[in-house]
Amino acid sequence: MIKIAPSILAADFAAMGQEVASLQAAGADLVHVDVMDGRFVPNISLGQGMVQAIRRNTALPLDVHLMIEEPERYIGEFAAAGADVISVHAEATRHLHRALGLVREAGAKAGVVLNPATSPEVLRYILDKVDLVLVMTVNPGFGGQAFIPQMLEKIAYVRRMIDESGYAIDLEVDGGIDARTARQVAAAGANVLVAGSAVFGAQDRAQAIEELKSHARV
Ligand code: DX5
Ligand code: ZN
Repeated sequence: MIKIAPSILAADFAAMGQEVASLQAAGADLVHVDVMDGRFVPNISLGQGMVQAIRRNTALPLDVHLMIEEPERYIGEFAAAGADVISVHAEATRHLHRALGLVREAGAKAGVVLNPATSPEVLRYILDKVDLVLVMTVNPGFGGQAFIPQMLEKIAYVRRMIDESGYAIDLEVDGGIDARTARQVAAAGANVLVAGSAVFGAQDRAQAIEELKSHARV
């Protein structure tokens, strides 16, 4: 089953309540929330206050993607704000294993994110600590970038690692996902697709989500 997680980075920030509230009826499975600190990535987006506000406007699970240095410092606050999944970048912490443990202790599902240049080998000893692996298919920081095709090989490799581990772990992709790339990433083994511009840039969001799902049915 393919799940679609629209990224609210591409939504109208001045109308966030309605933007988020419309997603469930449009067929979204999760709401993807991009948190950027201007240090780990060259952009600043939103913080735990916005997560709390979004929480009040949807019953969908909140998939919080932390693009921040030393994410362990804020895990408790994002969990308290209502995050269901909290994903931390492998590159952003010296203690990935500990950070993932902190996410679960805080009551959220734990995700680990890999930048395009990061080897999937970093997952080798932590698969028992994660509920989700997020393979970045662009360099994090901005919406609307072009999909990096070399990531298809990484997605397939991570899919094999997950299947061999025997754990129930979601494989998510983020960046440059449209109908065409949705088919490719799903064929490579991804089952959760983040989409910012492809959903919020469409006239009809329900149709855009359905189109992503139908292309990903392989
Ligand atoms: C990039 C973010 C993505 C972004 C995706 O740093 O992590 O979630 O919003 O946007 P699109 O789908 O437009 O590439
Ligand atoms: Zn993201």
